[in-house]
Amino acid sequence: MSTVTIEPKRIHGELTLPPDKSISHRAVIIGSLAQGRTRVKNLSFCDDCTRTLSAFKEMGVSIAQEDGGLSIEGKGLLGLQKPKKELYLGNSGTSMRLILGVLAGQKFSCMLTGDDSLSHRPMKRVTEPLSLMGAKIEGREGGNFAPLSIQGGNLRAISYRTPMASAQVKSAILLAGLYATGNTVVSFSAQSRDHTERMLKKFGADVLMQGLSVSIFGKRGLIARDLEVPGDISSASFFLAAACINRDSQIATKSIGLNPTRTAFLDVLKEMGASLSIKYDDPQMAKEEYQDEATGEVVASYSQLRGITIYPERIPLVIDELPVLMVVATQAKGETKICGAGELRVKETDRINAMVINLSKMGADIENCGDDIVVHGPTRLKGVLVDSFHDHRTAMSMAVAGLIAEGRTTIESADCVDISFPGFFDKLSGLVC
Ligand code: S3P
Repeated sequence: MSTVTIEPKRIHGELTLPPDKSISHRAVIIGSLAQGRTRVKNLSFCDDCTRTLSAFKEMGVSIAQEDGGLSIEGKGLLGLQKPKKELYLGNSGTSMRLILGVLAGQKFSCMLTGDDSLSHRPMKRVTEPLSLMGAKIEGREGGNFAPLSIQGGNLRAISYRTPMASAQVKSAILLAGLYATGNTVVSFSAQSRDHTERMLKKFGADVLMQGLSVSIFGKRGLIARDLEVPGDISSASFFLAAACINRDSQIATKSIGLNPTRTAFLDVLKEMGASLSIKYDDPQMAKEEYQDEATGEVVASYSQLRGITIYPERIPLVIDELPVLMVVATQAKGETKICGAGELRVKETDRINAMVINLSKMGADIENCGDDIVVHGPTRLKGVLVDSFHDHRTAMSMAVAGLIAEGRTTIESADCVDISFPGFFDKLSGLVC
């Protein structure tokens, strides 16, 4: 396991980020289920997305690198084959939950496994609605934990309210809804990322997005489309946050995804007083009714920040950026409160625990009360030995903290950044002071 040491430095530069992880998973899944050839430019080959790719190859989908991208020979909704062995999905919760949705519609049985972290992540949130639709799923503790076996087929449409606002749960049900007889409706208490809905629509599915619910009419085929995956705004968040809290720093990120269900992080930074400029690649994309994935450039520079409160309904929209926002909060004047962030406890690690332990070690005034996190700032952080807890977003957040700390910050088990952002530390060290 690698250890990485971060020295404090100011950062300046223009960056291209890795392709969006969420959109890449969906491109492989939906491309595989479509009729015809889907060409995908700029697909992510991070560890998590590679798990989804391998799973569909094992189900007989021919996926090849070609000039300018990847080509997926879609099998149609019912063309997947039973894999010869279990599908091992590593650390990837998105792979496991979305693939369960697809497998719920197949006529074959299949076994899904993952690493130790994935085997401890709750799956009942997905196996329960899929079972209501007619899939037969077994796993540890009543189908809550992998290894999971699933036998799909003969699905019926359901109307289901998800107990948590999760894009993965919503997506799994919508993917199963492709196979169900009738109209499947998913409703939720708060908005989460909507890449599945957008992409299914683009591929010809009968999807209706209406406020806090989405519906899909089943048994209608998908038609292949060409896609280009934008840069990952969640990967960009580490560099943008670093520029916001680091004196004399400025970072420009080009061609990143600006889907409105992913940009709440930028809104939060702005409310904290950050100096940010956002330029859409096409002004049309800034409009609410824009149907495709918006892209653009974001430039962030240092300014003095102030604490704010992030209320529960906003949590799903900043879920992956919360660890780095905790780092940002240590530099903001006054109190920052993050309310109702319990979902962070069931990510690749318990991210509330990981961040509170690490930032406290660095001298931050941070504590949690149940699932709320309270940070008082600004505090001068000091470089110490911290732990990634084998979680990519914790590792990258601690690297951002290390850039502004006094002395050296050493991050243990830092190679987990490959889960979403291979080359993260090279990018960071490549930035000029
Ligand atoms: C994701 C959804 C989020 C996010 C994860 C990717 C997705 O999880 O944390 O990194 O691609 O759908 P939840 O929807 O479970 O909150």
